[in-house]
Amino acid sequence: MADTIYPPAAAFAASAHADKATYEAMYAASIADPDAFWDAQGKRLDWMTPYTKVKDTTFEHSGVSIKWYDDGVLNVSANCIDRHLATRGTQTAIIWEGDNPEDSAHITYAQLHTEVCKLANVYKSLGVRKGDRVVLYMPMIPEAAYAMLACNRIGAVHSIVFGGFSPEALAARITACDAKLIVTADQAPRGGKATPLKANVDKALEISGDVPTLVVERTGADLPNKAGRDHSYTAAMAQASADCAPEPMNAEDPLFILYTSGSTGAPKGVVHTTGGYLVYASMTHQYTFDYKDGDVFWCTADVGWVTGHSYIVYGPLANGATTLMFEGVPTYPDAGRFWAVCEKHKVNQFYTAPTAIRALMGQGEAFVEKYDLSSIKVLGTVGEPINPEAWNWYNDVVGKGKAPIVDTWWQTETGGHLMTPLPGAISTKPGSCTLPFFGVQPVILEPTTGQEILETEAEGVLCIKDSWPGQMRTVWGDHDRFVSAYFSDYKGYYFTGDGCRRDADGYYWITGRVDDVINVSGHRMGTAEVESALVAHPKVAEAAVVGYPHDIKGQGIYCYVTLMSGEAPSDELRVELRNWVRKEIGPIASPDLIQWAPGLPKTRSGKIMRRILRKVAEDDFGALGDTSTLADPSVVDDLIENRMNRS
Ligand code: WT7
Repeated sequence: MADTIYPPAAAFAASAHADKATYEAMYAASIADPDAFWDAQGKRLDWMTPYTKVKDTTFEHSGVSIKWYDDGVLNVSANCIDRHLATRGTQTAIIWEGDNPEDSAHITYAQLHTEVCKLANVYKSLGVRKGDRVVLYMPMIPEAAYAMLACNRIGAVHSIVFGGFSPEALAARITACDAKLIVTADQAPRGGKATPLKANVDKALEISGDVPTLVVERTGADLPNKAGRDHSYTAAMAQASADCAPEPMNAEDPLFILYTSGSTGAPKGVVHTTGGYLVYASMTHQYTFDYKDGDVFWCTADVGWVTGHSYIVYGPLANGATTLMFEGVPTYPDAGRFWAVCEKHKVNQFYTAPTAIRALMGQGEAFVEKYDLSSIKVLGTVGEPINPEAWNWYNDVVGKGKAPIVDTWWQTETGGHLMTPLPGAISTKPGSCTLPFFGVQPVILEPTTGQEILETEAEGVLCIKDSWPGQMRTVWGDHDRFVSAYFSDYKGYYFTGDGCRRDADGYYWITGRVDDVINVSGHRMGTAEVESALVAHPKVAEAAVVGYPHDIKGQGIYCYVTLMSGEAPSDELRVELRNWVRKEIGPIASPDLIQWAPGLPKTRSGKIMRRILRKVAEDDFGALGDTSTLADPSVVDDLIENRMNRS
């Protein structure tokens, strides 16, 4: 069946930053002469010392090295705040919408400047210096943005840990980057409940050893304080001067670290640097969403994920935008909350995840129809492939068929969108992320030979042929891991970890991860991490974790668990293991299904055949393929007989 194609409306295209012809001309120019293209784009920032070099990158396996604007000097907070003051001092920079629908605030660029400068001085008074790492473990409040920008004002590197991670996971990230300070809040209200952030920090510090903390009084809860270690945000800010010159930073100085799951081992500290990242975040924000002066932009992500970094804070603020920050959840007080907020703040671009769309779709149209959504011009999605049913609902019910949908494919590693429709330029097809952004050269490789498939229609693994400014530069403290994770399986290319199909029109369709990473509600989870959490439990001998299709989450977490001999399986033990994983990693890693497996399907050399485990978890065991190399083929019968996901 032919895909339905949605061309951009002529009126939209006519006033867009890019129509089809512009996209095609700019794309061609970006590939023909990347230096000239990105030299021109670099000018969107203010540089303290202009760069003389633009692109200096190689994916050559022997010496992977990525540098952009290498000798330029700039400051990110100055680009996101100071340079807007003359023209936008009184414009709203951040609209904050609290968990409670009665709480909201508008922060102007002038106020943002004051808060960030003061906080930067607080950091200095707590001993934070250029190059030091600051861990942020924050609610979705303006102070989270201040905390980020105050870091780069003084040249410190932030590492944000999502508030849904457990004390154990937080401790590991504090230790991994040798944090000099932790910025947190007493509690994080979400959906009418309060996450105990500070209590979690206390527990984390018992594991990692003490680090000074700065605690925002969000709810004012009366909590224990450790004298000399814990500092009150309010008290510290009251003392701080609002005068803080931005630190001159080299374009390649680290801006932030963000941990993300890989297919093996502990999460990787993805490092983004100063100049290229900001150019790329700014340009993608402007073009992908067709952001124009005066628009109100809302990205519903949490700042704990890269989407929040690039499209709540850095991209929008670099562009002098008004960005909305939402503390709550889509279903509180009811499933109309997103649309109530769109109406209340007259949101022009709305950007969310397929998992949220699917969840709201299930609640019915009445929740949407109650609200005036006529301000919405562009709708965006991110995080996982969007199924056509969800796409159509988003298009018809939310966008009333008038707002183009941009399905943005990218990764923590890529800093910004790599493939996405531009709303005035590229016709969309539900479920496809369409075509590459400027400067991006996607290729599809034959998975086993690594040969590039040159035919237009192709299916295989997705790699990128050459660098773009927003690309991660290294894994924090482990450049070898960077090279081995991204540049070793397919030499000469950046390997995305995703499978992909290219159709006859050259459109790209992400088919999901080809490595042992699963995507749960748009959040990336290494199956190895869940497995190591499970085997850390005293009653567990062995565990194997795979994804399986889940109506709302996209993928659910399916665990096969072999117990220590003498341990009896029970429903109570299932609950215990589920809570154990939540404690080790956080609620986002909660196992959905746990199957007791007396044995796992292993080859004679002891390698677990995950292909079989995936099939059984998908309830699709008719096509298990060759099981003759298994050491004990009979384990498969038991797995099938006791499978948990039966349709
Ligand atoms: C993985 C990256 C950076 C955005 C948030 C997730 C999947 C992301 C899409 C999309 C299909 C997508 C990929 C990718 N993904 N966006 N539009 N269509 N799949 O960032 O946690 O680094 O995960 O999310 O599998 O590799 P992340």
